[in-house]
Amino acid sequence: MAQEMEAELHQGLCNHLQMELMASYTYFSIAVWFTQRELNGFATYARAESDGERVHAGLFVDYLVARSQPVELSDLSQPRQTWTNVEDVLISVFEMEAEVTTSLQQLYSLAERCGDYRSSIFLDPMIKTQVDAESEVAHLLAQVRHCHTDFGALMILDQSLSAAAGPTAA
Ligand SMILES: [Fe+2]
Repeated sequence: MAQEMEAELHQGLCNHLQMELMASYTYFSIAVWFTQRELNGFATYARAESDGERVHAGLFVDYLVARSQPVELSDLSQPRQTWTNVEDVLISVFEMEAEVTTSLQQLYSLAERCGDYRSSIFLDPMIKTQVDAESEVAHLLAQVRHCHTDFGALMILDQSLSAAAGPTAA
């Protein structure tokens, strides 16, 4: 039997699901950019993040279905495909992750306002995971900035990302 959910909250959950899919598509585009520049460690990192964002989108699908709510999917816009350098890529990634964090926090506030405790419980661990993801990107951006114009240092960082990814990266 369908459990009630405020229309605004349902729309917010669908919008966020869309945002996760768009993040996946954007990371995929970033992976293409790195692959074209033979930065294979960065490419592996971006592909793994793309997969991870799709997993997040799937969690929203599972939750909406568990609540007997419709899942509304919309068109994805063309992702950004041009950046000036690796730092530029990481800045845009950081901004994207910060937007996802804000969206999740707004969704959490909305769930609380609606008194929808199941949604609050669902969103709580997702916010923690997202804040951690944002911190990891900030760390990687700082490392890229340390490399500055030192291409050798950037290659070492690229190799460390390949090693960190391993065969089971998600
Ligand atoms: Fe995500």
